[in-house]
Amino acid sequence: MAIRQAARRAVAAGVDSTEIHGAHGFLIHQFHSAFTNKRTDQHGQDLTLFGTEVVKALKTEIPADIPLIMRISAVQYVKNGYKLPESFKTAETYHKAGIDIFHISSGGEGPIEKNGSKPENDEACPVPFTAAFKNHFPKTPVIAVGLLSDFHVANAVIANQTADLVTVGRGML
Ligand SMILES: Cc1cc2nc3c(=O)[nH]c(=O)nc-3n(C[C@H](O)[C@H](O)[C@H](O)COP(=O)(O)O)c2cc1C
Repeated sequence: MAIRQAARRAVAAGVDSTEIHGAHGFLIHQFHSAFTNKRTDQHGQDLTLFGTEVVKALKTEIPADIPLIMRISAVQYVKNGYKLPESFKTAETYHKAGIDIFHISSGGEGPIEKNGSKPENDEACPVPFTAAFKNHFPKTPVIAVGLLSDFHVANAVIANQTADLVTVGRGML
């Protein structure tokens, strides 16, 4: 798997954490989503098999003191997309395979359902999903993201124990 080499390069470069993308319609998300995974082979019968293989391969390359994070779409916004109960099961499988921390996002798999449940892109909009993950996996650190550019809001998310970490994209830019 080429991703093994990416992990080796990252470790050699001296990173102190690693993250793989299992959200937003990227490859791992495409595999564990029934919306996109229409395969009839074993990787279609077991939607999390591909992601599990990736995680297990990475865990053999990344030292135990460097966390392996996965970004995950907690819910999908396509019609009949998966919701929290399914993503908890998916995350449980990846956690057993070796994911140390979940970075909670949402959607990105395809067209948004009309009149669906997608929240507006407002400050801290995906944080309820982070809270749901934290509640479901109390011993597994979770990361909140989504317009947490205001220090006070970001700090409250951690102080309220809704998340263990926050990431800030546009605020940094
Ligand atoms: C201009 C722009 C481009 C982005 N491109 C991607 C992308 O290619 N892949 C991805 O997973 N997320 C992408 N994102 C989402 C970011 O990863 C992040 O979830 C989002 O910006 C929320 O964090 P923030 O509010 O702190 O910026 C993008 C966001 C912005 C604003």
